[in-house]
Amino acid sequence: MSLKEKIDLAKLPKHIAIIMDGNGRWAKSKFLPRFIGHANGVKTVKNIVELARKLNIKVLTLYAFSTENWQRPHEEISFLCSLLTSYLKSEIELMMKNQISFRVLGDISKFPAEVQSEITNVCNKTKDNKSLILNIALNYGARQEIIHAFESLCADKIVHPTEEDISNRLYTKGLPDPDLLIRTSGEMRISNFLLWQISYSEIYITDVFWPDFSEEEFYKAILEYQKRNRRFGNV
Ligand code: IPE
Ligand code: IPE
Ligand code: MG
Repeated sequence: MSLKEKIDLAKLPKHIAIIMDGNGRWAKSKFLPRFIGHANGVKTVKNIVELARKLNIKVLTLYAFSTENWQRPHEEISFLCSLLTSYLKSEIELMMKNQISFRVLGDISKFPAEVQSEITNVCNKTKDNKSLILNIALNYGARQEIIHAFESLCADKIVHPTEEDISNRLYTKGLPDPDLLIRTSGEMRISNFLLWQISYSEIYITDVFWPDFSEEEFYKAILEYQKRNRRFGNV
């Protein structure tokens, strides 16, 4: 029986969130420059998006650039921006064909104008697509997201907020919380990702570097998730 056949289609996570880490280490292990790692990481993104859609996952959230990643060298940041623009340009047709709705979590106003306009263009064009919701976290930080939510609560003069009041002020408004959080390349940390939303997510960490995160690795994560007993505080 293949890994894919072992998956229980009735118990799939509705929302999978991934911290795509390890592009640099992947490159280093092959004596290649970091940017080659990022370019190969994009291939994995395309592959995982397609697999998620085929499995009928409702929401896939990928952490692509954190609010802390601005500390990286300027050349690396501009390479990541150019990769993002070319990804969007090359994928828009497929997103339309496969009914993928592209959204952003984060404040994109810090990106160069041409990057912002490409993002806005793809978000607008794909907004009514009905199969997979693909969230890409860009200039995203969970603490900044929570600060925004607090500001909005203050503006609305809400002094005793409910959980719903807060959820509705996050970038993930209206979406279910992630059932499964995957982090590649072994770090046992959250790195400012979805702090509010992952309260009850099942966490799966693999040592595999993101560019090597294959179809089989994705199935392994889902199978591990399906073995977990989600108690949500109950007995
Ligand atoms: C993840 O890979 C991609 C981004 C954070 C943009 P890294 O670039 O963090 O790779 P490592 O962690 O240095 O190996
Ligand atoms: C987390 O990876 C951010 C993204 C995957 C975009 P980092 O490589 O930035 O995280 P740290 O520095 O190891 O915590
Ligand atoms: Mg990293």
